[in-house]
Order: sequence, then structure tokens, then C-alpha cells
Amino acid sequence: MTHPSTRTVHQPVPATGGSAPLRVPLYQGHTFSFTDTMAEAFGGPGAPYVYARYGNPTVDALEEAVADLEGGAGAIASASGMGAITATLWALLDTGGHVVAQDRLYGGTQGLLDALRTRWGVEVTQVDGEDPEAVRAALRPDTRVLLLETIANPTGRVVDLPVLTALARAVGATTVVDNTFATPLLCRPIEHGADIVIHSATKYMGGHSDAMGGVAVFADPGTLEAVRERTAEFGAVLDPFAAWLVARGLSTLALRVERHCANALELAGRLAAHPAVARVHYPGLPDDPGHATARRILDGGFGGVLAFDLAGGLAAGRSFASRIRLAALAPSLGDVRTLVLHPATTSHRELDAEGLARAGISAGLIRVSAGIEDVEDLWKDLEQALS
Ligand SMILES: Cc1ncc(COP(=O)(O)O)c(C=O)c1O
Repeated sequence: MTHPSTRTVHQPVPATGGSAPLRVPLYQGHTFSFTDTMAEAFGGPGAPYVYARYGNPTVDALEEAVADLEGGAGAIASASGMGAITATLWALLDTGGHVVAQDRLYGGTQGLLDALRTRWGVEVTQVDGEDPEAVRAALRPDTRVLLLETIANPTGRVVDLPVLTALARAVGATTVVDNTFATPLLCRPIEHGADIVIHSATKYMGGHSDAMGGVAVFADPGTLEAVRERTAEFGAVLDPFAAWLVARGLSTLALRVERHCANALELAGRLAAHPAVARVHYPGLPDDPGHATARRILDGGFGGVLAFDLAGGLAAGRSFASRIRLAALAPSLGDVRTLVLHPATTSHRELDAEGLARAGISAGLIRVSAGIEDVEDLWKDLEQALS
């Protein structure tokens, strides 16, 4: 089998007679006419296309490409990363049950867990994902799901996937891993025992902030059809044009990830030596608490997102954000452009000091999604904003 970076470029393309296009064609239409009887068209997996909420060739091609990259048996694409997470958790927890989740999670995922707990009667236990003993203690015979992120947002902590997936398997729970930050180029959680891998394709896979999408990849096809059904029921299906854009983005993923990682590592090192910076959070730094695990779990880089605490706290964070010039002051991540965020005054502004502390976010924390620009230009921008 070829290297994943080769497979991002050589995505499966359906043959058309004696030749084939180099790229997956865009089938933008949502309705297909029948050449056979309607009953056959509605006949489940492998049946002809009928209506895009149940399947579309461009979307299917993306699913196949991502399943292949992650080493999964199949994948379901969704309208966004949250669509993929929601459909997956809903399929696994449709009759309630118990979930164990790490406590540092993307805010949208945390919101979904809160809704599952308060509105749908799902029991949720959240623990420090970097503490295998805490995870072991939280897992129960009736635990259905262990929910993890390979690299946690925004502090870059890395969980020990082989250890945690084995613990979940021992009680019969399904491990779901959000691999958005790592991409299948740095980590393939199924190789470490995960059952389902989630991506917000909106981030690195698409890579250009012009397409939203999500993908759930399944180690074995067991729950795939249930997630497909939930995705169609919610109407959270991926639009063919977004699928086409994500597939195009995928073909340059390896080059971009290499540069994102190199820039993030260089900026993290320089920030760590800057007097205005109290602490840098990046698993690529040798003294980072996640470094040893990251070296075992990640291959080829430590990701493109770093964060740092400004010594001057909230006021320094506000001032830094207002002085950024080259980087964009923006949420999201994984874009070719560098994006900077001050969570305490933007994404997490509703949290008080205690809430921020629980999320592992200091008032002066700045998150940087390193783009692919020249690193000296990026450093000049960060340095002038720090001065
Ligand atoms: C780690 C992670 N997972 C999931 C999501 C949700 O993805 P989307 O915005 O595509 O719904 C995000 C969004 O920022 C994220 O950072």
C-alpha cells in the first residue's frame, strides 16, 4: 500500500468507459431518474442513486478517500464536523446510556454532551483524558462510548490512544476519536484501536475556509449504516460541491500539513523564549506535558495549532489581538492563512474565571492556527504584536 501522502493525491476516481478524469467529477444534481424500477433504487446499500440525501457520487468518492486514508472499512460524510459527531453519538446512544469523555473538548462537542445529558437523559462522565487511571475508573460495564480528541483544542494535549482504546474495549464501549487537529497524516486512530474517527473536514482537509464538512470513519461497518440513517434523518448530509472542494483540498493536505507543523514548531520555540510570554502550549516542545505521548502517537509533526499565555493576562490578550496585522483575527483553524484567536474575549467570553480555568484557558491565552506563509513574516507579525 502507498503512503497516505501519496493517497491524498491519488484519490479513487470512478472510471468512465475507456478513460477517467484526474479529479472526482462534481455531480451537483440532487435527483436521479430511474432506469429500473423504483423499488430497486430504494434497495439500500449498493442501490442506484436516487436522491442526494441518501447518496451522491461526489460525496461517496470523498467518503471512500477518507476511509482509505484512515484505514477504515467505510465512512459517512456530513454537512459539518458537528453533523458527523451528532449523527454518530445519536446512533450509538439512541436508547440512552453512559458516555465517558475527556474534559478538554471542542466547545461545540461539549455543548452537544451537555444537551445529551440535560435533554436526552444520557449519563456523561468527564475525566482528564491524559490520566488513564481516571478513564479506567470512569468506565463501567454499561458505558457505550468513550469520546476523545487526538490533540485537544486549544492546549494541544495528546491522549494515549492505545491505552485508552484498550480500556474501552475491555468494557465493550465504542471509542470515538475526533482526529481533526492531527489529520490522517499525523495519526490514524484506528491503528491505535479506535472504532470511529471523526473529522471536521472544514479545517485541514478542506484547508481554505471555503467549504464546511464532516466525516465519520468506521473501523468496521457495524454502526456505519445506523450513522448513515441518522445523517439522512437529520438532513445533515454533505453538499456535493462542498464534497468536491474538500476532495480537492485533500490532494494538497500532505504538503500543507508539513508546512503547518514546521511553522507551528518554529513559532512555538520562539514564543517560548519571548519575555512577554508566560507559557507556550504545543506538544512539539520537549518540555510540554504532552510531548512524550505525542512522540508515540503522532508521526510526521505535532500539528499546526499552538497556544500561549501572555504574562499580562486579559489586558495583554486584548492588546495583542488588536495589534495583529498579517495573521487574521478569526475563529476556526486549518486554513492556509494564519488565524489568531483570543478566546477570553471571543469564543469563551461568556465564561467567568472559574469556567475558563475548567476549560484550561487563561485570560491571556492566545491560540494560533499556523498557516503556510513564510515563517519569518509570521514571526515579525507576532513579535510586533507582543512588543
Ligand atoms: C476539534 C473539532 N472538532 C469538531 C469541530 C466542529 O466542526 P464544524 O465546525 O465543521 O462543525 C471543530 C470546529 O472547530 C473542532 O475544532
